[in-house]
Amino acid sequence: MSKNLVPGTPGTGSPGLTDAASASDLNDQLCQPRNPIYKLPDKYTGTHFWSANASNHEVLYNFLLPSILEAIGDGSVENTEDPFVVCDYGAGDGGTSMKLMAEIIKGIRKKHGEEKPIVIVYEDQPWNDFKSLFCLSQGLFGDQTSFLPEDENVFVLASGTNFFTRCLPRNYVDLAVSCCAMHWLSKRPCSLAQDIFCRGDLNSEEELEAYKKQAAQDWETILLNRTAELKPGAHFFLVTSASKDGMHSGATRHYTFRITTYLKDLWLTFAKTGRITMEEFVNTNVAYFQRTEDELKAPFLSADSKVSASGFKLMSLEINETIFDISMQLKNKKLLDEEQRVIAHYARKYVNALRGWINAVFMSGLDGRRSKEEKMAIVDNLFSQLEDDVACRPNDFGYDMIVAYIDILKEK
Ligand SMILES: C[S@@+](CC[C@H](N)C(=O)[O-])C[C@H]1O[C@@H](n2cnc3c(N)ncnc32)[C@H](O)[C@@H]1O
Repeated sequence: MSKNLVPGTPGTGSPGLTDAASASDLNDQLCQPRNPIYKLPDKYTGTHFWSANASNHEVLYNFLLPSILEAIGDGSVENTEDPFVVCDYGAGDGGTSMKLMAEIIKGIRKKHGEEKPIVIVYEDQPWNDFKSLFCLSQGLFGDQTSFLPEDENVFVLASGTNFFTRCLPRNYVDLAVSCCAMHWLSKRPCSLAQDIFCRGDLNSEEELEAYKKQAAQDWETILLNRTAELKPGAHFFLVTSASKDGMHSGATRHYTFRITTYLKDLWLTFAKTGRITMEEFVNTNVAYFQRTEDELKAPFLSADSKVSASGFKLMSLEINETIFDISMQLKNKKLLDEEQRVIAHYARKYVNALRGWINAVFMSGLDGRRSKEEKMAIVDNLFSQLEDDVACRPNDFGYDMIVAYIDILKEK
């Protein structure tokens, strides 16, 4: 690419390659088609930003607990001298699963005694906030409220890899979990002309087909890699964002505003007012797909499918609408100063929880010739606009999720 381009003027929507657009920015761009776009803003790494804001995910993890304890109690994996290995795939900073992990450890202790070595593997992408993960796992943050037990036979490891490939040795894992990670795709299959999400309503048939095909391939790849890693008799419990009756996470009928549509509309106004170009809007795509029940079940339906032949059996799958009501319930009464502060706090937390996973998507849609600073200014602007809107109408926004709860068994 030529370096001799017209200098971009911040905020005018006309990108240009400035000296500030460093080689590493361009490398980021070049890497993106190969990698799913999911990266915490640099300034937040090491601050447990994700789990400090995404308290709804802690609740989702905890929903898995009764089934997990039952599976540990059943002892379906043969008990040997080997450690009991738990792996959380797409773990983020580990804070949202900490309560669940502490309960899992108690369950293993009850079944296998105090001496059984327990290995907890936190798997995520190389650029995940592993610094926060290690600090959280050792209880080093002053504001931390959940902790792993002090237990000299618990060993915490991390795998900075990618769940579309093998992350662990064959027949290694006794218990696998994952929360809200496996709707991410291995790549963006195409650009989306009118939306940044692929859900069908604003997408062409070709776009929808490309996403569905990618999602089907990726689901099979994920399952085949996990079946190799799990021990016979081990369960894989996962929570994944899904779709039901035409509804999607962040786009149900529960709140006045569907947050994902709202965000797309806000981004579109940036394009229409010249803050970004229309091409940048089209290039902003979230590389995830919220699968339907049929799509999630498909790899298990036939006994000769690769997944069934590998020994994986679907034990249960349920898709529910899950609402986390954080709205302030103030209902138009005159606001006192204190209440306004509470609203501002919740609006920020709400927007931060979104930002934790979608910031990088907006950054990646922006033209590679813009400097990193210019991109960050545009994206900061987007989220501060959203925060103002949420603070003005707090009861009209919320966390509404469509979530699949899945239990898969590796048969003996
Ligand atoms: C929404 S966060 C969820 C984090 C945590 N599981 C939770 O629910 O709080 C999604 C996580 O999936 C991870 N992820 C996305 N694609 C991945 C991949 N291909 N391999 C491993 N992790 C991935 C992201 O890096 C991110 O940490």
